Amino acid sequence: MGRRYKVITVVGARPHFIKVAALVKAMDVHKWHHLLVHSGQHYDEKLSGQFFREFGLEAPAYNLQIGSQVANLQISDCIRNFDRVLDIENPDLILVIGDTNTTAAAAIAAKKRNIFLGHIEAGLREFDRTIPEEINKLITDAISDLYFVPTPTALKNLAREGITQGVYLTGDISLDLLVDAGLSGKDEKQKFELELPDQYIFMTCHRAVNTDHPGNLRQILEAVSALPCPVYFSLHPRTEKAIEHYGLRTSIGDNVRMIQPLSFKATQNLIRKAFMVITDSGGVIKEAYFHRTPCMIIDRQTEWEEILEEGWAVITGPEKTRIIEVYHNFVIPRAHKMSLGNGTAAKRIIQIIETFLDAQRSKDTGTGTTH
Ligand code: UD1
Repeated sequence: MGRRYKVITVVGARPHFIKVAALVKAMDVHKWHHLLVHSGQHYDEKLSGQFFREFGLEAPAYNLQIGSQVANLQISDCIRNFDRVLDIENPDLILVIGDTNTTAAAAIAAKKRNIFLGHIEAGLREFDRTIPEEINKLITDAISDLYFVPTPTALKNLAREGITQGVYLTGDISLDLLVDAGLSGKDEKQKFELELPDQYIFMTCHRAVNTDHPGNLRQILEAVSALPCPVYFSLHPRTEKAIEHYGLRTSIGDNVRMIQPLSFKATQNLIRKAFMVITDSGGVIKEAYFHRTPCMIIDRQTEWEEILEEGWAVITGPEKTRIIEVYHNFVIPRAHKMSLGNGTAAKRIIQIIETFLDAQRSKDTGTGTTH
């Protein structure tokens, strides 16, 4: 039996739960003592609990209970509460995922205690420091020891910042579950309790640039309401609150059907069968690409350069006329290179961590060469 290492993965927001499910699945339980720590950033059943059940994930060993609050408080509570966990657990390595407030906070807590840090989805950049997630990416990548990089563009971004040590192009971990999910979708209608028309758009919208700016949100809602097609709009609680707060209900047409956030599998089925996806979510952009569904990005930029280059996604920004124009003129590309990897990222990540920790242990005990 190999050595046992204690690794903590810190999760907190919906996309983390999906990715950590792929990771846990690929772990050898004999070698890994793996603990899940939930920051509590997402706490609603539909954003958190349903995914733990869907993927059969172990209950988190700790919940840091940070909840919804302004970013600085969310981050500082996460650092403080996670530090208490580190007092008790003293792991060999901490893994963080993506670019949320939870990610950056856990990264800072790890490195302030000199614990090795691995970043899954490293190197992605949007080159705009007004985006909250961009700051989280920069902080986390500045201090990580291991970088698990989804795309060649992300690799180049890190190199440009002088980060070349401990960097591994693993492909994107969200693909692991997509490849694995067995998305036959046969009993889709019963599962969703939705009468799906033949042609529909699947939509999400939750980034701060849209939800915190009523002008942007209004333009998006008016644009999709003007499209000659049903729009299934999966509503993040943040967006639901923004619509109420800014009084934008009247901007929403009859063709727009608001639905609550669905399970991973149900969401994948909706994306796969959609005629088009409209989103500002990096995760949904990738998922649309994977399912070969054309995608309009209602944001001003994206970190998924490869998908743009292939023509599967087009940036419209939150602009009404542009959204309507792109809808009518989208040319579906012929080629689809699957440029986000091959769905084996979790296995690669685990191998790399084991090799890294083996090398560290040999160094510490003076029994072998360094990595
Ligand atoms: C966070 C991430 C974003 C990620 C998204 C996935 C940051 C900066 N952003 O955005 O990168 O794409 O998660 O969903 O970390 N709320 C609830 N219930 C919950 C959680 C949140 O109602 O369980 C509402 C609250 O009003 C809260 C708002 O959503 O204030 C925003 O939540 P927050 O976790 O701050 O950011 P997200 O928009 O979810």
